[in-house]
Amino acid sequence: MAANILDWTDSWYERLDSESHCDSAASIAARFSGEVAEGKLPFCSMPFMASLLHDLDGLEDYVKSFDHMLLLGIGGSALGARALQKAFFPQQDQPGHEGPWLWIADNVCAKTLDAYLQKLPLEKTLVAVVSKSGGTIETISQYFLVRDKLKQDLGDNWNRNLLFVTDKEKGFLREQADEFSVRTLEVPDFLGGRYSVLSAVGLLPAMFMGVDYRSLVEGASAVLSPLASPNLNGDLLSRHPAFKMACWASGLMGEGYNELIFFSYIPQWACFGQWFAQLWAESLGKEGKGSQPLPAIGATDQHSVNQMFLDGPRNKGCLFLTCPSLPEGAPFSDDIPDNFAYLKGKSFGELIHAEGLGTKMALAANKVPLVEMQMGDDSEEAAGRLMGLLMAATIFTGWLIEINPIDQPAVEMGKLLAKARLGADGLEKEKESLNSFLNT
Ligand code: PA5
Repeated sequence: MAANILDWTDSWYERLDSESHCDSAASIAARFSGEVAEGKLPFCSMPFMASLLHDLDGLEDYVKSFDHMLLLGIGGSALGARALQKAFFPQQDQPGHEGPWLWIADNVCAKTLDAYLQKLPLEKTLVAVVSKSGGTIETISQYFLVRDKLKQDLGDNWNRNLLFVTDKEKGFLREQADEFSVRTLEVPDFLGGRYSVLSAVGLLPAMFMGVDYRSLVEGASAVLSPLASPNLNGDLLSRHPAFKMACWASGLMGEGYNELIFFSYIPQWACFGQWFAQLWAESLGKEGKGSQPLPAIGATDQHSVNQMFLDGPRNKGCLFLTCPSLPEGAPFSDDIPDNFAYLKGKSFGELIHAEGLGTKMALAANKVPLVEMQMGDDSEEAAGRLMGLLMAATIFTGWLIEINPIDQPAVEMGKLLAKARLGADGLEKEKESLNSFLNT
């Protein structure tokens, strides 16, 4: 199976040898099976996917009756949707597009939100508020502003144009849903934002855009179901590409490689790099460990950060994403001057392919440890495989470097202090500390 998912270009540096971690493969397999059985790794739990697809089916007519979707969310509650939008819904940015339109508001930016609220016809807009915790300040503050506008424009029916994606029991959004009879989709227990793209968090906007979300799930299932099998053992795990990737990445960290390039030569998948960066960084940056993800896109970044990748500090590994079967595009005509004659009769597809080969070779020549993830095509199914693989690889890497890849304790302090600054109850001591910090 592994060979069909990705082609591991390990011959150059032989770093994909999982043998060195075989001792831990058996215990990691047992731990993985245990956590799947306890429902603690819902991103690879197939029953959850089946019930989700059923819930989405039930909402399809309603969701597609709107021309616009305004998605309010941040971090893992927005990055997957954006990656899918850029990869599979490029028509939104193309001249003549007549809808639907997805708008993602994932920051505290008055200018952006004002523009949405002034320009979007709210009667034709579904506002999807996406927050697992249901209490994230950036998302909830946007919700308050949008809610006021909905009430103003739609009167008593303001709640009809709202849909929450949130925890099934807890949190402020759940309370709001109960109080105002707002439709909801559930985010399962234990599913952190950065592992949630294949839950309602990513699949609701995918469905709205007409993206083949079932194929996304099928692709992920192909990669994850062997891991979710109760028969998983050390031997099977050692041969799974997610574990191989984790062994490679954690091995590099152990040798002082503290940066990991994610170089995509599938141009329309550029935002997968941002999605991966959050997944990797927020999961693994703990206790002084981890590697800093560096998303890059070919060919654009050949003219930018690639110089640093090639000849900067020797502290970088590289995940190199390719797809040999990208659309070729129209061939160049013969009306080309002699100094560009090599382009005659070639296509854009050949150009990006050659650029990818050149960059890969240059990285290798500069001794950047590199794994190629070669996708058979650029379909939703392939994207699902990739996302499933990267999520599982992140969990395994975390366990191999002995940190918890599910939590994110360090980012909490800044959030807490921001609330203290604004005068939140119970944070008086924090406010005092912040004030004395500001006065030093
Ligand atoms: O990966 C994570 O858990 C975070 O980045 C969250 O996605 C982010 O903080 C948003 O959280 P929530 O969905 O609870 O609003």
